[in-house]
Amino acid sequence: MKTYQTTCVYFSATGTTKRSVVEMAKILDESYEEMDLTICNEAIQESRFGKNDFVIFGAPVYSGRIYEGAIKRFKKIVGEQTPCLIVVAYGNRDFDDALIELYDLAKTQGFIPIGGAAVVAEHTYGAIQVGRPNEVDLEEDRKFAECIKQKLMRKELTEVPMPGNRPYRVGGKGGSFRPTTTNECIECGLCSTLCPEQAILKENPRILDDGKCISCFRCIRQCPAKAKVVETQEYQTFVKDFNIRLAQRKENLYILN
Ligand SMILES: Cc1cc2nc3c(=O)[nH]c(=O)nc-3n(C[C@H](O)[C@H](O)[C@H](O)COP(=O)(O)O)c2cc1C
Ligand code: SF4
Ligand code: SF4
Repeated sequence: MKTYQTTCVYFSATGTTKRSVVEMAKILDESYEEMDLTICNEAIQESRFGKNDFVIFGAPVYSGRIYEGAIKRFKKIVGEQTPCLIVVAYGNRDFDDALIELYDLAKTQGFIPIGGAAVVAEHTYGAIQVGRPNEVDLEEDRKFAECIKQKLMRKELTEVPMPGNRPYRVGGKGGSFRPTTTNECIECGLCSTLCPEQAILKENPRILDDGKCISCFRCIRQCPAKAKVVETQEYQTFVKDFNIRLAQRKENLYILN
């Protein structure tokens, strides 16, 4: 008999966080549900979870913090002493204060964080740990989810503290690189629909609102014509150095007691 209904609630601009949380959810509950909060923002309705729910929160690390747009979305999700798992995906630099920040937020929203993970994923910029989470990472995710499942079955809803510092470091904002559009654009409008911050004009997907764009590169990854690019000299120079600095592989961290 199933004890908890599992729902993954995530923000995932380039899909890496989503891959890990969904992999974990599949182990916990074959009829898991998904709440993908990446696209909409204002349109998100408040959602409430109860004692028989289990929520997996997932978000990417932006400058050592949870992306602030994800925080805004998560504030509409409310628990009632609902057990949860918190997962942050980071691009092989560091997760710094992201886990503790998500842990604090989950508690404020009425959840009990019974475990957490900081998983390594391909970085948005450059070519760092390309393809991660890969099959080896996902196998680790599955094993961790199995341990969480056992904990839930034993009804051990003990809270697990997360590493990090308070006050949190400054971070959580988007980056400064702005995609441009090449002549390959077929004006399908997909980038405009998928942009998490509605930064791409619906009537003309070549036009970008600089102030709204967070450099998440979702439009670049999703464009079917590969027409969204960042080609500036500044970006080329940045990634050359970045790829070298972050070349050393990091391992996933899973936290449970
Ligand atoms: C603006 C921005 C800031 C980032 N800051 C960090 C960071 O501080 N540490 C890190 O390891 N990765 C950082 N990353 C990389 C992302 O955390 C990583 O690629 C993550 O897997 C993206 O998740 P998603 O695919 O679910 O969007 C950053 C990415 C962006 C776009
Ligand atoms: S997704 Fe690509 S092809 Fe479609 S409108 Fe956007 S830039 Fe053009
Ligand atoms: S326009 Fe900016 S915010 Fe929107 S998807 Fe592209 S990179 Fe992300």
